Amino acid sequence: MKLERESLKLLEKALEKLESGFELPNLDQSYDLDKMEAVITKTAEKMQDNYPYFHPLFAGQMLKPPHPIAKAAYMMAMWINPNNHAMDGSKASSPMEKEAVADLAKMFGWEKHLGHLTGGGTMANLEALWVAGKIHPDKKIIASDQAHYTHERISEVLKLEFDKVGTDHQGRIDIQALEEMLKQGDIGTVVCTMGTTGLGSVDPLDDILELRNKYDFRVHADAAYGGYFTLLDNLASQTIKKYQQLDKVDSLVIDPHKQGLQPYGCGCVLFQNPEVAKFYIHESPYTYFTSDELHLGEISLECSRAGASAVGLWATHQLMPLVRNGEFANNLSKSRSAALRLFEKLQTSDDFFPLLKPETDIVAWGIKGRTTSEMSQKANEFFMRAEENHLYLSLYKYPTSKLSNPSFEIDTDYLVCLRSSLMKPEHEDWLNDIWSRMIASL
Ligand SMILES: Cc1ncc(COP(=O)(O)O)c(C=O)c1O
Repeated sequence: MKLERESLKLLEKALEKLESGFELPNLDQSYDLDKMEAVITKTAEKMQDNYPYFHPLFAGQMLKPPHPIAKAAYMMAMWINPNNHAMDGSKASSPMEKEAVADLAKMFGWEKHLGHLTGGGTMANLEALWVAGKIHPDKKIIASDQAHYTHERISEVLKLEFDKVGTDHQGRIDIQALEEMLKQGDIGTVVCTMGTTGLGSVDPLDDILELRNKYDFRVHADAAYGGYFTLLDNLASQTIKKYQQLDKVDSLVIDPHKQGLQPYGCGCVLFQNPEVAKFYIHESPYTYFTSDELHLGEISLECSRAGASAVGLWATHQLMPLVRNGEFANNLSKSRSAALRLFEKLQTSDDFFPLLKPETDIVAWGIKGRTTSEMSQKANEFFMRAEENHLYLSLYKYPTSKLSNPSFEIDTDYLVCLRSSLMKPEHEDWLNDIWSRMIASL
């Protein structure tokens, strides 16, 4: 197969435009290209030892290739290599970051915000929980047993007490269990995952916000994976209702490097109340000289950060604005349609069964059998055979205690299932091919 390289032509043109903006004496920029060619060829050879993350037949973990515009803009920025910590090192790309972040806040219907890009979802969540801990220093952070493990680890780093709340069979926060915990009066923040890493399930934000009227706590939305689904109409009406409440949370994390078509190194944290900037105040005798405007380093915990990430994201938003029924949203809705189609096929299969109805674009399914141990073994073997057939899936361990009325015997704590993140828009067109490979792998 051929890799996309048309964008390289755009990059050449963009570099010509970029260099015309600098009226400076020429530099001697000769390098030993023969030596470099030998090294880059060896590097490409090393990189062949990869699963094809960019291809729709890679239908396992959350991996999605950046859009060519993001790649070209990111690479173009490499010739400048801006550092979005301070305006001094990122005169153009810091304002581009502010614009791109404002686009994200607007997508959630926020009228005001404080926010910035981060290295990824973990750093973004760390900042949100750090602020949560500043506001409620002696209170607990609660996340569900299906939330990303990062919340528990971050709480440990921040020395904040952490507890898990149970989930229903869909992997969503059990609202009664949460209320029982809230009654104790020692909870400062509830993390609401808007698209869990395992199953793509969406916590009941509407019910959690109702509880906030009764008990005083912060709501942090971890929308690292699922945030962009807020643009879609082809979700269940209950799910749409939950996404519509995102303008009411206190803080939110979304990762453009997951569903937002960006290269890795692009997360984002948003706070509804700009006054939380006060927690970030620090002295820096080395930076912040060239502008009285807010430097992004003054409101972030990370110091140096790739300005190129902001350039890639800004360019992507210019090409595909974050609006309902726009190109970006329509492409994302294809992932959702692919997930629904796979679910339908699984429902009528003699060999497979869907674990749940997918809420976003992650589908989990089991292989039929008499006992959970036998079914788990079959799933492990199937996973290996699928790879031989160039279909790359992932595995998911589902607690058997959550299975209601199973038609098989439960003899293990977990049932091993197959799991597909159908997050590439091409997955819709490739679904029949994926299905044929699944049948061939039985
Ligand atoms: C819901 C959720 N939160 C947080 C993270 C962590 O993000 P990152 O891997 O960018 O640090 C992930 C990663 O998969 C995630 O799915």
